[in-house]
Amino acid sequence: MTRYISIIFLFTVSILLSQAEDGSKLWLRFGQTKASPIHFTGINADKNLFAVKELQKAWKEMYRKQLSFNNSGNQTLVIGATGSKELQSFGLNKNLEQLGEEGYLIKSFDTHGKHQTVIAAKGKAGLLYGVYHLLRLIQTNDLPENLNIVEKPSYAVRILNHWDNLDGSIERGYAGHSIWKWEEMPTKISPRYTEYARANASIGINGSVLNNVNASPNILRKNYLEKVKILAGIFRPFHIKVYLSINFSAPSVIGGLPTADPLNPAVIKWWGDKVNEIYQLIPDFGGFLVKANSEGLPGPQDFGRTHADGANMLADALKPHGGIIMWRAFVYSPDNDDRAKQAYNEFVPLDGKFRDNVIVQVKNGPIDFQPREPFSPLFGGLKLTKIMPEFQITQEYLGQSNHMVYLAPLWKECLDSDTYCQGKGSTVARITDGTLYKRELSAIAGVANIGEDTNWCGHHFAQANWYAFGRLAWNHNLTSEQIAGEWLKMTFNKDTGFVRSASNMMIASREAVVNYMMPLGLHHLFAWEHHYGPEPWCDFPNARPDWLPKYYHQANEDGIGFDRSSHGTNNVEQYCSPLREMFDKTETCPEKYLLWFHHVPWNYKMKDGKTLWDELCYLYDAGVKDVRRSEATWNNLQAYVDKERFEAVKAKLAIQEQDAIWWKDACLLYFQGFSQQPIPPYIEAPVHKLDDLKKIKLNMASHN
Ligand code: GCU
Repeated sequence: MTRYISIIFLFTVSILLSQAEDGSKLWLRFGQTKASPIHFTGINADKNLFAVKELQKAWKEMYRKQLSFNNSGNQTLVIGATGSKELQSFGLNKNLEQLGEEGYLIKSFDTHGKHQTVIAAKGKAGLLYGVYHLLRLIQTNDLPENLNIVEKPSYAVRILNHWDNLDGSIERGYAGHSIWKWEEMPTKISPRYTEYARANASIGINGSVLNNVNASPNILRKNYLEKVKILAGIFRPFHIKVYLSINFSAPSVIGGLPTADPLNPAVIKWWGDKVNEIYQLIPDFGGFLVKANSEGLPGPQDFGRTHADGANMLADALKPHGGIIMWRAFVYSPDNDDRAKQAYNEFVPLDGKFRDNVIVQVKNGPIDFQPREPFSPLFGGLKLTKIMPEFQITQEYLGQSNHMVYLAPLWKECLDSDTYCQGKGSTVARITDGTLYKRELSAIAGVANIGEDTNWCGHHFAQANWYAFGRLAWNHNLTSEQIAGEWLKMTFNKDTGFVRSASNMMIASREAVVNYMMPLGLHHLFAWEHHYGPEPWCDFPNARPDWLPKYYHQANEDGIGFDRSSHGTNNVEQYCSPLREMFDKTETCPEKYLLWFHHVPWNYKMKDGKTLWDELCYLYDAGVKDVRRSEATWNNLQAYVDKERFEAVKAKLAIQEQDAIWWKDACLLYFQGFSQQPIPPYIEAPVHKLDDLKKIKLNMASHN
């Protein structure tokens, strides 16, 4: 009897667990959300196509059965690539040619009393993306009777950069350990590898750099390459290529050579052999990502060579195989007057000296993934060199996995920025997507926020950032609202009222974090190492000045802000006219960048008539209020969200509110020591004491 009871108990538990709303399915909740009514009577396609298998898999989850391979009904779904028998009668070949390998069409045809929906592409990648598009329309209830969709990606390479170390830790990772279980492979292959690939492919991501930019040379050892090969094999049907971060000193560390000088023939041969070995194992290997002569890592400059010498040597080794080099421009040294200027100063003199399979990878802003930065002047500065944006999906500086911050508005702000470098309309998006300079190779990277947490990203809403990165990489013209809407419908609920409120909350979250952390262009006020809480006072004897907040805020009795104008470090000169002139003067500089470019007196009059000090107080307070507004919105949405995820998000929002208050109090009380002015009565008075805040030492895992 007891045995039966325990069997029934286990059975019930397993049913409950299988329905647990733990976020593990991401936006691919085919079985969990109410699908729209079935539109198709059957499917006409090659059963063996991977895209068709993916469709059938999702279909089964949605409708508990597969779509029958049957062309006789009056609502058929047709899937086929150029030249296939299924496509013959539709005359689409010419249109498909223009869409490249990854583009696709989804089009309705009414012929002979039949309504046919066709997903057509030049090749298999396009078909797969077309299928995911159709599924998205079904998931979001946006499938109209007549379709005429034409899609082609904005960027050729849409890639995640994992900062995962070989020991399983993740640099700046906040969702648990790495999903790559190097020790287990090849004996055990985690099912998550396939789920990861599917999630990425569903949003158009086609590349993955598996390991940290602070790369261990060991990744290039044979035993690791064998494991990389396994992952590449799992990703291949999903059209995702693997790439590796390399350590520039690998030829000496693992190759036993006395040098890693990129012009040394033995070093050149070592890399050539290594690259050949990789391609023997992984014929479609994507290439290397390189962080060199940056934050203490080795690089060509150690041998008196330039970034171009280093990048080109590697590019030559990869070229015969079709591989690329993504060479990072994240460089700065302690003895420069302004960290914001250095990448430009180092790379612009090398413009035009890079091979055509090299692409320089540049963070969106000139410093380091802050809540707000102006775009990096390299985006307009490099004209003859390919250049790609690097965004940070993992929220190193934006509350990590505790704060809900939707990042699409931040990335759009960068992509939509006009550099003016080839006249009006030279946006970062057009410079990097290849349209301005007519380039085939274009790329965009996002530093992944993925870990082994059940919900992948630590915070349910952080999944939206992974999703948004993929969608923007596919189409940078999508709006933040469109992306949020899609994601909310697929992830939570399709109710219009729910989507509107939750989307507004997401959109507002970016400006909120800017306000409660670093308004008006302030930057890098973070605590040493963990980059979570505020420490504008942080100081250490003999610390690198550019690793201390004081270097960035420069607060004193006269005012606050970094003078990068022509009277200061003249960073403004790196921007093209008219931005250069606009940023140079306090009157014309957008207020959101005021303290980025200027040292401004406390009593400076802002556009709304407040003094700078009062405005600062007002904005910090507004940030806290925004978080409270999000909490209220979320509480109102309880009826639309399952209990598990509702409570999890609610708990995180409570932490975010406390943190916002911490940020506000810490910054205002500290800066008040310089401004010597009262905190205006219309904002909430600080609840903390500065001395207590200074004692906070977070014991957070730091990976650096
Ligand atoms: C930041 C981050 C480091 C990282 C570096 C990089 O500085 O804190 O952990 O290695 O960026 O992008 O290379």
